[in-house]
Amino acid sequence: MLLIGVIASVIGVLICLQIDWFPTEGSTQSEKIDTLYDVLLIVSVPIFVLVMTIAIYSVFAFRAKPGDKGDGAHIHGNTKLEIVWVTIPFLIVSALAIYGWIVLDDIEAKQPNELVVNVTGEQFTWSFDYPQEKVQSNELVLPVDRPVHFQIHAKDVLHSFWVPAFRMKQDAVPGITTTTRVTPDREGTYEVVCAELCGIGHATMRQQVRVVPTAEFDDWVKDRGEGGAAPEEGESPMAAGREIFTSAGCNACHTLADADATGEVGPNLDELPAVAGEREKGTGAEDYVHQSIVDPPAFVVKGYSGDTMPGNFGDQLTPEEIDTLVQYLLGESKTEKSK
Ligand code: CUA
Repeated sequence: MLLIGVIASVIGVLICLQIDWFPTEGSTQSEKIDTLYDVLLIVSVPIFVLVMTIAIYSVFAFRAKPGDKGDGAHIHGNTKLEIVWVTIPFLIVSALAIYGWIVLDDIEAKQPNELVVNVTGEQFTWSFDYPQEKVQSNELVLPVDRPVHFQIHAKDVLHSFWVPAFRMKQDAVPGITTTTRVTPDREGTYEVVCAELCGIGHATMRQQVRVVPTAEFDDWVKDRGEGGAAPEEGESPMAAGREIFTSAGCNACHTLADADATGEVGPNLDELPAVAGEREKGTGAEDYVHQSIVDPPAFVVKGYSGDTMPGNFGDQLTPEEIDTLVQYLLGESKTEKSK
């Protein structure tokens, strides 16, 4: 049994360590978390193998003989064995808890020159506010290699702020502020995920984080301060509209072929240009779409609820961005993309 156990443990550990369990390591925290996970695997596999080896051996070795209806032998405890099977797991679990605590303490330690980002979760979107830079955004943009201190809030129900590439995950709880720290150390675009079942749109509560060079981050902050992502010179209004549509998270809940969006929580926006002018008597198409963005309960399409869509896009987006978005949603976006 011992020989089988040792061989199976070695094979099991080797297989487990070969498997690529995690996405890109996108922060200084990720390497330590991944090492912690590997240590847990190395400790867990032999325990699993030990239990299974003894269980399977016992099934065969102590099987009742055919026709044997008698009771098994009565055993009244074994003090030595009990001390052993309490002490060893206690030591293993305590050591792992202490190790985990040390790692968490280390990766969540306060850093110099932290960038503060307020994260707010609500059904079904994330929004980000940079108090030092006085910038608000529905897209998370972070400079590479600078520690970030996230202050996490929730407007309605429990959510959980998670960027798998950063490894850190923290609950967003209404009424209190939770925090977590991350130092992104690899440029790229990663997913922001909600990891707490928060309602019908939970699975669509996904946005993006862009980790960019410091200079690019500074430019982005400057742009946001000067009228946001309204079309820049040379950029077509449709491309700008598509960018806002995606970065604001509209794609999470709505279908729009031009933006490769397939959400079904809210009305299908491919149909919008055809119906926007007729849905509300006396309201033109542009006003109808504008009002629907800044005050979702104002006009509710049959079959949908007025309070599913966040009501704060009017604050999150600049007036220019909203105009661009309205034009985009009503415009000839499809013909342009096919060019
Ligand atoms: Cu928010 Cu799930």
